[in-house]
Amino acid sequence: MNFWEWYDRNLLVAKQHDVPVYELDWLVLQQTPLDKLDLRLRSPNISLKITPETLISLERIWQKRLYERIPIQYLTGSVTWRNLELQVSPAVLIPRPETELIIDIVAENCQDKFYQQGIWTDLGTGSGALAIALAQHFPQAQIHAVDYSKAALEIAKINANRNRQQVKFHHGSWFEPLAKLNLENKLAGIVSNPPYIPSIEVLNLQPEVTNHEPHLALDGGTDGLDAIRELVNTAPEYLIAGGFWIIEMMSGQAEIVRSLLQTNGRYTNIQTLKDYAGIERFISANKKH
Ligand SMILES: C[S@@+](CC[C@H](N)C(=O)[O-])C[C@H]1O[C@@H](n2cnc3c(N)ncnc32)[C@H](O)[C@@H]1O
Repeated sequence: MNFWEWYDRNLLVAKQHDVPVYELDWLVLQQTPLDKLDLRLRSPNISLKITPETLISLERIWQKRLYERIPIQYLTGSVTWRNLELQVSPAVLIPRPETELIIDIVAENCQDKFYQQGIWTDLGTGSGALAIALAQHFPQAQIHAVDYSKAALEIAKINANRNRQQVKFHHGSWFEPLAKLNLENKLAGIVSNPPYIPSIEVLNLQPEVTNHEPHLALDGGTDGLDAIRELVNTAPEYLIAGGFWIIEMMSGQAEIVRSLLQTNGRYTNIQTLKDYAGIERFISANKKH
């Protein structure tokens, strides 16, 4: 079988297995010398660039995608997120496209020097996506990133180096490492995409997620709000007056998180923001003066 026969057959197989067909292209682009133009032009000569060994390897990886439902990003070991190339492994959540919007919202709301030259933290950094993008957006800021998973922090460090960004990584639970650094009342901003899925729902997500992504990254406790409560309650101790706070949340959580922020009493300018699908996915606020 030549490359095109293999490719065409698997376009059909992908549809039959409910796997997006663009994942086949991602795999080929990652694992072979072919580029997007090669795939579009479909020149018969292109088959010559693919050795029989490469075809066997593509087939082996693709079988894992189809039958073991392993996310393609774990199989290829990388993902493009904003303009960043990030390494991923089953130790980290695969950063999602909608999470990119957190950086756009920060960029729009935090244009003063106060924010640009301030101290920021990304709580639950995973692959490091948000922390690294923040460092890129605010080259004069100091960025701290925290995670409870040591394995995730190893990947995040690799990603910061790979993307040439300065981020200080800390192991521990939420604000714990920041307390050790005496960062109370010093942060210009806090971003977080915390685990927010109710425990029982974590077991019933797509098999790609339930069986392969780290549950520490997904499971937000009985009602999904354990981490969010901690982030709402403790952040005012660490933010400077006027400091910016933003988190990602699940569809249906906006109203309760808004009321948690209001009841806390130390926040102002509370805003919910929608993702690409029109779902209220983010909530931001400033610490009161
Ligand atoms: C939804 S993932 C987000 C990862 C990354 N920020 C992103 O947006 O792709 C949540 C992250 O929170 C981390 N986490 C879970 N519990 C934590 C805790 N108690 N303290 C710090 N991080 C925690 C997980 O290890 C995971 O990396």
